[in-house]
Amino acid sequence: MDKIRIRGGQTLRGEVSVSGAKNSALPLIFSTLLAPGKHKLGNVPRLQDIFSANQLMNSLGCKTEFENNNLSLSVDKTLETLAHYDQVRKMRASILVLGPLLARFDEAKVSLPGGCAIGARPIGMHLDALKKMGAQIEVDGGYVVAKAPGGLKGTNIQFPFPTVGGTENIMMAASLAKGQTTIQNAAQEPEIVDLANYLNKMGADVQGAGDSTIQIQGQNNLQPAEHDVIPDRIETGTLMVAAAITNGKVKINNCDPTHLTSFNKALQQMGIELEFGDDFIQVQGNGGYASIQITTEPFPGFPTDLQAQLMALMTQIPGKSRIIEKVFENRFMHVSELMRLGAKIEVDGHEAIIHGSEGNLVGAPVMATDLRASASLILAGLVASGETVVNRIYHLDRGYENLEGKLKSLGADIERIKE
Ligand code: UD1
Repeated sequence: MDKIRIRGGQTLRGEVSVSGAKNSALPLIFSTLLAPGKHKLGNVPRLQDIFSANQLMNSLGCKTEFENNNLSLSVDKTLETLAHYDQVRKMRASILVLGPLLARFDEAKVSLPGGCAIGARPIGMHLDALKKMGAQIEVDGGYVVAKAPGGLKGTNIQFPFPTVGGTENIMMAASLAKGQTTIQNAAQEPEIVDLANYLNKMGADVQGAGDSTIQIQGQNNLQPAEHDVIPDRIETGTLMVAAAITNGKVKINNCDPTHLTSFNKALQQMGIELEFGDDFIQVQGNGGYASIQITTEPFPGFPTDLQAQLMALMTQIPGKSRIIEKVFENRFMHVSELMRLGAKIEVDGHEAIIHGSEGNLVGAPVMATDLRASASLILAGLVASGETVVNRIYHLDRGYENLEGKLKSLGADIERIKE
């Protein structure tokens, strides 16, 4: 298993370019199941979750060619409708094959998913919504077995919580269902808008994505299309923290500042100088930051996927900072590892209080527990004195394209140790 070694204390400077969004590329890849023919996706990040998605697509009978950041997917008229445990267990987003397969073939059998261990992460809302559309669903031997004799039918769906994956699954299913589907309390993340744009390029009629009500008029069939994946807002935020925590000056190119409004606001409240262009953010860190309180919420609120990274920065801010995690129930696993580096953090249920002070971290071996936690530990390692070794880096490789290379290009003393 690879490790990452960081020698802290370097100030990051320069320019860096953000990759395409993993969380957008995954639903886009699975949405191609809706339309036979050859689809072309650009700006697709080369990372483990995308490789896993391609393997899953191959196991269903699709052909994938992935060169540089261009992915072409050939989708047959007939496909396998069984998504095996071996393919699905690596990644929770695999459940997103359920909606498209069921909509196109009136049946699907999909293993219950795995993914990051950041909470129970059930899929009840996906299944309840598909049942409302007329699907008969049972869970048998670890598999979701779904049938829709006569096809899925459009209906009104009111999600109890704006689930990202649930909204995506239903948008895809509804694009080939009979009649109109209305999703209320829909997730509003930029990745939802990106998926809607691609579905519409395929000939779907999806209106309102980005708002809390989405309307989809079902079509008889869809056609393949071409599309570039939006920039990764979580990678953008991670690089912004890297600049701020090292008191550096970094211009982050190829990003969309409008996707990070609440995160940007939090950094500015801390006293970090940000300059925005249409597709860049320049971060100027000067130290002397102020402590703040943030609450993670569905978009446009503060993203849970940047909570662990912000916590690393908070360890450097004198006084008390506070994080309230409202999206996942078990997302403070990075805390004990940050504490091994010397951070002082108290956790009480959904709240973490960080007692920060500048220069308090000392390098040590630590263990990545999930994807964003890995990023948090690397960020902490950038300011910890001495050497930090982050073990179990496969979590990082699931969701970041060459993060250590990007940090190194900005002056970080960081290297991958292959084992
Ligand atoms: C997506 C993102 C993930 C991000 C999360 C929240 C992808 C591939 N992953 O995950 O990086 O952290 O959004 O922004 O896009 N829930 C239920 N029942 C359900 C579905 C969800 O109880 O049927 C709960 C979850 O356990 C969680 C909350 O709802 O507590 C949010 O989950 P959801 O928005 O569905 O996240 P994902 O789509 O899994």
